[in-house]
Amino acid sequence: MEKITTASLLTKKQTHRKITVLTCYDYPTAKIMDQAGIDILLVGDTLAMVVLGYETTLPVTIDEMLHHVKAVKRGTKKALLVADMPYLSYQIKPSEAVRNAGRFLKEGGAEAVKIEGGREMVKTIKAMLAADIPVMGHIGLTPQAVHKMGGYKVQGREKTQAEKLKEDALQLQDAGVFAIVLEGLPWQLAKEITDSLSIPTISCGAGKYCDGQVLVTPDMLGLFPDFTPKFVKKYADLGSIMLKAFKQYKREVEQGKFPDKKHSY
Ligand code: KIV
Repeated sequence: MEKITTASLLTKKQTHRKITVLTCYDYPTAKIMDQAGIDILLVGDTLAMVVLGYETTLPVTIDEMLHHVKAVKRGTKKALLVADMPYLSYQIKPSEAVRNAGRFLKEGGAEAVKIEGGREMVKTIKAMLAADIPVMGHIGLTPQAVHKMGGYKVQGREKTQAEKLKEDALQLQDAGVFAIVLEGLPWQLAKEITDSLSIPTISCGAGKYCDGQVLVTPDMLGLFPDFTPKFVKKYADLGSIMLKAFKQYKREVEQGKFPDKKHSY
């Protein structure tokens, strides 16, 4: 079993092998993803929406995130475990960001953290790296900035915004991040950014020319009914399978068919 590290991800970019990333929030799913050979399990702050039922990612706390990081850690052997830093856990000052990020490694067993933002995060990233905490960047449509963006909108369509994103990517790379999530960007811009960097980019609604791809797992499994972004492909419809199973269980219990002899002691 070859353990995935930040170094092996870099090798993947250099040898033109795609990096696979999925969000993960619990132990059994982590085991299956690890078995499937997914490179990075990201305990995303989408936890707030797709597991906890909030409208945005903003309310989730460090302690709630940690609870899930620990569960995913127990199910992960090979994949790189990345913990997303929730809103306001890293924006206030670098020293506070280091302390909070350190909790994800020390208490949660994560191997890296992810933060949203461009050049304004450079100081924070450097402080984290000085404390030996690997950092993944995230630019473009950054969901923690939903209110500033005025909704979940594709970013970088205008020239000045595109130029800013290209420069942000370079500054994050110079600051030392090991990879950058590009979310909600036109594929042409994501390709330009990818070609300009020596570190891997991970597409989240940024087209096929990035070095890797991430999806929010409940979206790709048909387990999040509230909305599905255009870039999401549903690889399964587990929601329908669960509904069918729950209905059959209810029917069989009500009709006295379950438990039967086979399922009794
Ligand atoms: O929180 C999350 O799940 C994410 C991914 C969508 C990249 O940040």
